[in-house]
Parts: sequence; structure tokens; C-alpha cells
Amino acid sequence: MSSRLPLLDTLGRPVRDLRISITDRCNFRCIYCMPKTVFGRDYPFLPRAELLSFEEITRIARAFVNRGVRKLRLTGGEPLLRHGMETLVEMLAAIPGVELTLTTNGSLLDKKAAALKAAGLVRVTVSLDALDDAIFKRMNDADYPVAKVLAGIEAAVQAGLTPVKVNCVVKRGVNESQILPLARHFRNSGHILRFIEYMDVGSSNGWRLDEVVPSAEVLRHIGEHYPIEPIDANYPGEVAQRWRYRDGAGEIGVISSVTRAFCDGCTRIRLSTEGKLYTCLFASAGHDLRALLRSGADDVALDAEIARIWQQRTDRYSQLRMAATPQLKKIEMSYIGG
Ligand code: GTP
Ligand code: 5AD
Ligand code: SF4
Ligand code: SF4
Repeated sequence: MSSRLPLLDTLGRPVRDLRISITDRCNFRCIYCMPKTVFGRDYPFLPRAELLSFEEITRIARAFVNRGVRKLRLTGGEPLLRHGMETLVEMLAAIPGVELTLTTNGSLLDKKAAALKAAGLVRVTVSLDALDDAIFKRMNDADYPVAKVLAGIEAAVQAGLTPVKVNCVVKRGVNESQILPLARHFRNSGHILRFIEYMDVGSSNGWRLDEVVPSAEVLRHIGEHYPIEPIDANYPGEVAQRWRYRDGAGEIGVISSVTRAFCDGCTRIRLSTEGKLYTCLFASAGHDLRALLRSGADDVALDAEIARIWQQRTDRYSQLRMAATPQLKKIEMSYIGG
């Protein structure tokens, strides 16, 4: 296959970023993602034969790289729970011209960081919603302590998976009190802390607009204690808006999908654990690439299907959110990949 001119969707956006969910399982039950009331402890997750194999994932990733993708991100569920995933990291890292990253809850990072680095992973993003144990446990609903996530972050640093990004979803009435402690903790650490507006992704978290803490409020709060100033995006369409401490203590970010949608520059596509392709985080239906691959399609047919799907993409859910039809069933983030 030869590289072609950039593939553009109906709004002129290229495809740059493929996010791959490698398991729908998770050992946490974050209240904004997989609430226990809906998912239980032993939710019936996908059986093994339903999952894309590492070979199938790698084949799809190569096809996307050939069409302009430059960043691959492994997600889940919790990606480190997928058996043998270091092998997949090795296979994907061998594709020339891509940056390979991973989003994790950090629980297995102290055990796996060195092997992931050796396999070719470049950096990691770790979720951490509080520094206070009681609040963190209320968020993860798995009785998981803060110290273990911090140990995972430290292991990532030791392994050279840097800079580490730390994601904090802020939910009104649950963890706003943690904004400042988290900011203080990660100042001068070299890690990039990002605050994420709680989103209406999926159908199980019972999202309400009044539970969203707008990024402007987060920035005002931090700025009152530590003066900050905005800095330029690293690349067009970057999800986070970047800010830095005026005293040189480092960088933070805010991800404002609710109050300041960033669909205009959205170059992301998502591959679910069972091989469905979603052109938006809020899509209600995916395109079945697994069926295509397992029917014996060759690389030309795979490429044609990818091009067809992207070229007809119209998604801009976050921009239309308030006008959107709330009754449409949306795909859970743990399935489609954060
Ligand atoms: P890097 O800049 O490479 O670190 O990637 P990133 O900013 O995309 O980081 P990450 O994958 O950690 O995304 C952070 C969070 O932003 C996700 O967990 C989501 O909550 C949110 N997010 C990411 N992509 C999208 C998107 O396409 N749409 C919306 N609405 N939210 C997104
Ligand atoms: N709103 C915002 N971010 C979410 N994530 C999961 N569910 C939500 C939600 N409802 C993000 C978490 C985690 C990543 C895997 O997905 O921040 O970092
Ligand atoms: Fe698991 Fe991440 Fe969802 Fe929390 S946000 S339940 S850690 S997949
Ligand atoms: Fe992209 Fe959809 Fe998110 Fe908009 S809502 S930024 S189109 S994934």
C-alpha cells in the first residue's frame, strides 16, 4: 500500500489519532464511568473470542497510519488488564512514524512500567481524581488507595515514560475540594496535571449539567493561589488548553468538552475492543471492522472501508450537545475507550 494525500472528513478534518480500547474490563468502578449500580462487580464483559487479536489490532493500526494517523493511544477499560498487552505494545511500536501512548488508572503501573518502556511505549497518562483517600475511594468505588497510584506514577517516571500526564475528572459535590491539593502536589514535579469536565458520555453515569465544574472555575480557583497564564497548544486540535504557573513551577491543562467544545479540530477515531470503529466519543453506532477482517478482506479492501468511513464523518457532538437528542443510547466510555 502506498501513502496517499490526507484523508479528510466532511468538515475538512484529517485523521491523526487512533485510540484503541483493548479491554472493556476494569478493576475500578469510577462513578462517572462504570458505576457499580449499573456495572456491578461482575458485569458480563466481552468473551475472549469477541476481542480483536493483537494481529488484527496491528493490521488496523497500520492501515490508519498509512492514512495519516500519527498517534496511537491504548485505552480501555483498564488496558493493563489485557493479558500479554506488552506484546501488543511491541507490535504497535514497530510501526514507523507513530507515537504510542497509553491511558491507565495506574493500579498495575508499578509492576508494568519497565516492561512497557522496553516494549516501546513512549509515555503514559494516569487518572487520579483526588489526593484524599476517602474522596478517591468514593470516586473509584473499588476501595483503591491514592498511594498506589502515586507509586505507579513514580514507576513510570523511573522507567522514563515521561512527561506523565495526570487526568482528574471533576464532579461537583464530590471532588472539587481536591483541585488545589492536586495542583499543589504536582507543582514542580514535571508531571502535567489536567482537569477534565465531567462529560455525558455513555448512558450509565446519570450525568447532570449541574454536576459539571466548568474549567473556568477550576482555573480561577488555582489562579487565586498560584498565578497562571495560558500557553500555546502543542499541536492543532489539542484536547487540553495549556496553562503555566508564572513562577515556573510547571504546566497544567483543562479539558473543557462541555463548556468549550473542541470538535472543530477533532482528528480522533476510536476502535473498540471487539473491532468496531467509532468516529465520535458520543457515537451511538460503530462500523464493524472485525467482520470485515474475518471475512478475509485484503489490505486494499480494509483501506477502502477506512477511507469511506472517515470521508462520510460529520460528528461534532460536543458542539451540538445542548440540542442533541438525550434519548439516543450512547456507547459507554469503558467500551469505546477514553
Ligand atoms: P495527549 O495530548 O497526547 O496527552 O492526548 P489527549 O489530550 O487526547 O489526552 P487523553 O487521551 O488523556 O484525553 C484526556 C481526556 O480528554 C479523555 O480521557 C477524555 O475525557 C477527553 N477527551 C479526549 N478525546 C476527546 C474527544 O475526542 N472528545 C471529547 N469530548 N473528549 C475527549
Ligand atoms: N467525563 C470525563 N472524563 C471521563 N473519563 C471517563 N469517563 C468520563 C466522563 N464521564 C476519562 C477519565 C480517564 C479516562 C480513561 O477517561 O478521566 O482519565
Ligand atoms: Fe476504569 Fe478508567 Fe472507567 Fe475509572 S475511568 S472505571 S479507571 S476505565
Ligand atoms: Fe470529536 Fe466527537 Fe469529541 Fe467532538 S464530541 S471532539 S467530534 S469525539
